[in-house]
Amino acid sequence: MANIKYFLGEEIPLEMHKVRMVQRLDLVPIERRLQAIEEAGNNTFLLYNKDIYLDMLTDSGVNAMSDKQTAAMLVVDDSYAGSATFTRLKDKIYEIFDKKYFLPVHQGRACENLLSMFFVKKGMYVPMNYHFTTTKAHIMVNGGEVLELFKPEALEPVSTHPFKGNIDLDQLQKLIDKEGAEKIAFIRIEAGTNLIGGQPVAMENYLATSKIARKYNIPFIIDASLWADNLHFIKTREEKYKNLSTREITKIMSESADIVYFSARKLGHVRGGGIITNNEDIFKKLLELLPLYEGFSTYGGMSTREMEAMVVGLDETMDEEMINQGPIFIKYMVGELVKLGIPVITPPGGLGVHLNAMEFLSHIPQEQYRAGSLGSALYITSGVRGMERGTISEEREADGSDHLAAVELLRLALPRRVFTLSQVKYTIDRLAWLYENRKLIGGLEFYEEPKVLRFFFGKLKPTSNWQEKLVAKFKADFGDSL
Ligand code: F0G
Repeated sequence: MANIKYFLGEEIPLEMHKVRMVQRLDLVPIERRLQAIEEAGNNTFLLYNKDIYLDMLTDSGVNAMSDKQTAAMLVVDDSYAGSATFTRLKDKIYEIFDKKYFLPVHQGRACENLLSMFFVKKGMYVPMNYHFTTTKAHIMVNGGEVLELFKPEALEPVSTHPFKGNIDLDQLQKLIDKEGAEKIAFIRIEAGTNLIGGQPVAMENYLATSKIARKYNIPFIIDASLWADNLHFIKTREEKYKNLSTREITKIMSESADIVYFSARKLGHVRGGGIITNNEDIFKKLLELLPLYEGFSTYGGMSTREMEAMVVGLDETMDEEMINQGPIFIKYMVGELVKLGIPVITPPGGLGVHLNAMEFLSHIPQEQYRAGSLGSALYITSGVRGMERGTISEEREADGSDHLAAVELLRLALPRRVFTLSQVKYTIDRLAWLYENRKLIGGLEFYEEPKVLRFFFGKLKPTSNWQEKLVAKFKADFGDSL
């Protein structure tokens, strides 16, 4: 990170880029916000952008692209097969990850689909540090079972542990001893556990997992979608690696795994994805599935323009100043919220700020979806859209009961290089007001509930008229302010 000390002593993150293209935003009045969230069934996925001021739903496909990425999109070779664009991308991936076989796909979950279809058979286990929604769904569809082998600190909301995303190696060893290596489809590490606050994994943990996987001949797969943030944390939190370059660290991570896959909607700041490996046998078998589900092997469902931008985006990801920007903004926002006593996951991770709704709304029964309620209340209060990452994001148990999530988070993603510091400060201000008025917030219940991945399209209603009361208090305190 650029070493900047301020004369006035303030500690604020400093951007190493300037904004050269902008998009106009609106902040609609609170009455419209109330109406919009009702129309969306209290599901922030179902809001429309015209009603949103700051879109902190996700960092997926919405990170700011650089001038060089945009320029690269103008010169492409869009041949269906064998394009020069593909060769450029494949070569860049080889240069960065040291893996020669590359299967392009349309986005991250497509990697999960192909890998699960190929490796997972009924009754097999897939141990991992923590699941991601789409990963788990694909493994389950293929008859496998996800086993999350995290350490106790992973779920501690307030912590100083630098790598809460680590997989528990003792549990992994016990699983292999008990079930046998043949029952394990693959071991997966998510580089930066999305659902527990973007918490990173230490290099030491990748290497130790790799050692176990190799000993028992179990495929080791790394989901590198959030690698940029994880790379920053290895460089800044893991003593042994702080003097290695981002490229050197990336190669060590990649070498530890048999397969690395990623959503380029996050890694590389475009829209796409890919699976990479040095194993020719696995490559050839996955290649058979590729044209069936994604597209020919030299585009895999991606637009060639996005592929050109990905070449540049992956290269820029090796620039420390580029990958620092997300984590330093998140660190700033988390630090300010902690000062205000607002429950938030610590230490700050990647991807975004994760409010601890379990504690923020401890007066609401967990069955009434604390994180969902907080998301709805924050939108009404501020026009800021977050994402529920709690019980609503879980699948129901086989007996139809709710699977109460281990953590109830409202994620406020900070897409990289997108928001300004004043926008972050506005969000902090509205959160401070909301925290003071938290007892006005009530619960939610489903009135439309899809069977799979219900958080995408499910609709909920408030359990009382708490939203009207919240609006009335807002108007009493803020008058005619938006
Ligand atoms: N793996 C991780 C760790 C992810 O965070 C995501 C997506 C995927 C896989 C799937 O990739 O969306 O390109 O198909 N996360 C997004 C999010 C959706 O909002 O966190 P995808």
